[in-house]
Amino acid sequence: MTNAEPPAPPPSHWIERHLPLVNTSRTMLDLAAGRGRHVALGLDRGYRVTALDRDVTGLSRFAANPDATVVAADLETADAPWVLGARTFDVVVVTNYLWRPLFPDLLATVAPGGLLLYETFALGQEALGRPRNPDFLLHRNELLDRVRPTLDVVAFEDLVDPEPQPAVRQRIVARRRAPVDAPI
Ligand SMILES: C[S@@+](CC[C@H](N)C(=O)[O-])C[C@H]1O[C@@H](n2cnc3c(N)ncnc32)[C@H](O)[C@@H]1O
Repeated sequence: MTNAEPPAPPPSHWIERHLPLVNTSRTMLDLAAGRGRHVALGLDRGYRVTALDRDVTGLSRFAANPDATVVAADLETADAPWVLGARTFDVVVVTNYLWRPLFPDLLATVAPGGLLLYETFALGQEALGRPRNPDFLLHRNELLDRVRPTLDVVAFEDLVDPEPQPAVRQRIVARRRAPVDAPI
């Protein structure tokens, strides 16, 4: 028996596929990073990655990496100021996490020209497995409605994903337009 952390699951295909849309690998935020599957992906692609979670035990393998910053913070503390202040990132990744009050701060964290890559469960999932709490399940088209006032939508899906097991997922890639910018 060892106390070694179990290996992180593989990265999401959605995140892996769309990460190259940012053609200059600079800074990435992984919010509610868990065991850091997308932290590892970002580091591998040349990003400097900030990984935030309330439980950072699964992120200890990045402690010695000069390109990784691990932040322990509870994102759901009522009335607490946004933990990252005015910092912005070229890519903001959120997977399998939803806390609706964060959306304004989350969207503001995407740098001009940067991308939001978001993927999590949606209503209907409660019939297939966890999570079942509607607070953690997106409404139909909710990610579209949340981002559209401030970001340009690049790609969106809202479907029953058959892999790795059937799950109702919603996914978006959205971009903050830079002052002088062409569409992707
Ligand atoms: C289902 S896991 C997803 C982890 C990772 N994003 C992934 O897809 O592999 C949800 C993560 O959200 C984190 N989390 C839950 N509530 C949180 C909170 N209030 N503040 C910060 N992180 C939280 C958990 O610690 C956990 O790592």
